[in-house]
Amino acid sequence: MAQFECTEHMESFLRELPKCEHHVHLEGTLEPSLLFKLAKRNNITLPESFPKSVEECTDRYNRFADLQDFLDHYYIGMSVLITENDFYDLAMDYFAKAHSDGCHHSEVFFDPQGHVERNIDIDTVIQGFHRACKDANSKYGTTNKLIMCLLRHLPAENGLQTIHSASKYYEDGIIHGLGLDSSEKPFPPELFTECYAHIKTNYPGIGLTAHAGEEGDHTFVSTSLDLLQVSRIDHGVNSHQNEELMKRLATQETLLSLCPLSNVKLQVVKDVAELPIAKFFEMNVPFSINSDDPAYFGGYILDNYKAVHTRFGFTMEQWKVIAINGIKGSWCDDDRKQELFELVEVVYKKYAVTIDA
Ligand code: HPA
Ligand code: ZN
Repeated sequence: MAQFECTEHMESFLRELPKCEHHVHLEGTLEPSLLFKLAKRNNITLPESFPKSVEECTDRYNRFADLQDFLDHYYIGMSVLITENDFYDLAMDYFAKAHSDGCHHSEVFFDPQGHVERNIDIDTVIQGFHRACKDANSKYGTTNKLIMCLLRHLPAENGLQTIHSASKYYEDGIIHGLGLDSSEKPFPPELFTECYAHIKTNYPGIGLTAHAGEEGDHTFVSTSLDLLQVSRIDHGVNSHQNEELMKRLATQETLLSLCPLSNVKLQVVKDVAELPIAKFFEMNVPFSINSDDPAYFGGYILDNYKAVHTRFGFTMEQWKVIAINGIKGSWCDDDRKQELFELVEVVYKKYAVTIDA
């Protein structure tokens, strides 16, 4: 259903355009090749029902029935992660790929409860991921921040305990945000009000976000804003169902972290063309374009940009606005934002001028 060509010139522009990623689950970057390698190294026996090879994974990952079907694979996949080095290697592979896609700033999710319930120490997880964030910064010059997600299918008390176990990392600035993921519809945002209030009271500088409006309707988005007091919404595609909400997102400049290829793979829409991206743009609802779980959905950040380009045919000027909105909605400091704004201008001038000449 691609309607617009992504010319070589446009593709290089999209690659070089300084991008920020706000919605990627590090456990969702576990490529099948690494999954099987770690399963072997750590003596993990995968369940009979799990695909047996890279090829079988590729085939099965192409046929997720919905979010829950994907999550059932995602939790099995993460069971191969055992040592601090496993977490480090996983994150370093992602940072290398993000860098080669022209992503300059990544805010990455991780799901500690998915590891702690398998008796992996939370320090093993966070220290592995944190070391990768630092090393990626030295190696690639990218900036990287960790966002701890709570699993909404687990009780809020478990979420609160997890926040307590991670308190030193919030205090030391090693974790920068709180998010909420996993099965959306049966577990609405209001269940987690106390967890979010705890972070807001005790660590006022910490960014708050939540998955909302992926499978849940627009009320999940409003409730996340009202009760969880988030400043960002992950997915949020269903916000388009309510005009008032759209105006609110535009006025408050609440960033939606959209994940186009994920929405197709999880049957939210049949094609990227069906996403309300043009409407978000026209109504000044800021959004960024992200990969979500790239190893499961068959595309990293640049693939998602290209998929959007071939459906919506944005001009370079419009792409510049999208890149700027992504920087504005990031949780890096103002100096870093300024640096990124300037880089966007340099790339825009380089490519837009080539077209005019
Ligand atoms: N939605 C909800 N939970 C998730 C996702 C997602 O797309 N990816 C990993 N956990
Ligand atoms: Zn997600």
